[in-house]
Amino acid sequence: MQKIMIEGGHPLKGKVNISGAKNAALPVISSCLLTGGWHKIYNVPDLRDIQTIKKIMEGMGVTFREEGDALLINSENLNKYEAPYDLVRTMRASILLLGPLVARFGMARISLPGGCAIGARPVNLHLKALSSMGVDMFLENGYINARTDGIKGAEIFFDIPTVTGTENIMMAAVKAKGETIINNAAKEPEISDLAHILRKMGADIEGEGTDTIIIRGKDELHPAEHEVIPDRIEAGTFMIAATMAKGDIEIAGCRREDLYSVIEKVRAVGAVVDINENGVSIKGPDIIEGVDIKTMPFPGFPTDLQAQFMAMMSIAKGSSVITETIFENRFIHVSELKRMGADITINGNQAIVRGRKRLLSAPVMATDLRASASLVLAGLVAEDGLTEISRIYHLDRGYEKMEEKFRLLGANIWREVN
Ligand code: EPZ
Repeated sequence: MQKIMIEGGHPLKGKVNISGAKNAALPVISSCLLTGGWHKIYNVPDLRDIQTIKKIMEGMGVTFREEGDALLINSENLNKYEAPYDLVRTMRASILLLGPLVARFGMARISLPGGCAIGARPVNLHLKALSSMGVDMFLENGYINARTDGIKGAEIFFDIPTVTGTENIMMAAVKAKGETIINNAAKEPEISDLAHILRKMGADIEGEGTDTIIIRGKDELHPAEHEVIPDRIEAGTFMIAATMAKGDIEIAGCRREDLYSVIEKVRAVGAVVDINENGVSIKGPDIIEGVDIKTMPFPGFPTDLQAQFMAMMSIAKGSSVITETIFENRFIHVSELKRMGADITINGNQAIVRGRKRLLSAPVMATDLRASASLVLAGLVAEDGLTEISRIYHLDRGYEKMEEKFRLLGANIWREVN
């Protein structure tokens, strides 16, 4: 098992380059199932989740090749339609293979993703929408068995603006017979990125980034070239790190339009943020002000930055209330932060954080992807010694070379294999 070691107290200075977005790359790679031929995808981050989806798709007969900094994908010779349990259980986003498989081949057998640390993570909205498009599904031995004689366009209404649910239906609809309207669609930048590659494949799609997406099905699509957008959650993680660790850094390659809610909140905390065409520069304050946040669907404050923001509020002047509205169990990092001296009380979907002067180094355990990021940030400011974070395979799912990037900014952080 690997662990990350951090000696806190080193201010962050310099420039960090943001990698491609995990949550854009996953649907973009899945969409390459929709048509044979060589797709060329740039800026795919080197992450465990990307390795996982490649493994699942290779098991179906999809060919991957690296060409320079591009990932080439060809699903011409696809001969299996199954995503096996042993891989799906390590990455729930495998559900994104369901839509394109039934759109192209009329069948799929996907292990029903289980829950994870942050919640039950049901996919009922995905399945309900697909069945209204003429896909028959039944559950057997923990697998979703899906078949259709032809996907039909339908009017969909999502009770909740589900991100991967919207992406699944977009991919199912681009080859459907007729028009599909997705109401209460998710508006995350990753949805728009998927719409962009689908349009490059020849899909007739409009409204991405709004509540209503309209897709008119096409018989044939063709391979596309595409560059994945930068990872706004990685960028936000570094913005929070700089704010809490007296940083003065430039975050290159991120897009201002993805980060307005985060910029507003770190400015309220006291950071000085300059936006330029290459990204954002951020200077952390001497005193961190306590600021409340409430996670919301995009463009609200992202749930994927809630744990990181809580680590920062743990050393704020005054208190803050953190309200988590997206997932029912996304406070697992609280107990680990408390081991480092944080004063946090959970009350339903709210965490009341009373800022302390400092956090104290300690051995802690990562429990999920973004919780592990919050522990790294806490370790950066625990000046009294060495913080040791175990189970960092969680971190490797969604952050590319995180400790290297922090080391280049002046942090004293390294990985140990024990
Ligand atoms: C995506 O997950 C992201 N993952 C998550 O990022 C992110 O936290 C989440 O969106 C919210 O922004 C990927 O894009 C791969 P949802 P997703 O469907 O699509 C409920 C990370 O750290 N729901 O928008 O699974 C659900 O339980 C990960 O990178 C249903 O009830 O999230 C949740 O409460 C973590 N039924 C809410 O909707 C459904 O059928 C939003 O979930 C689907 C969702």
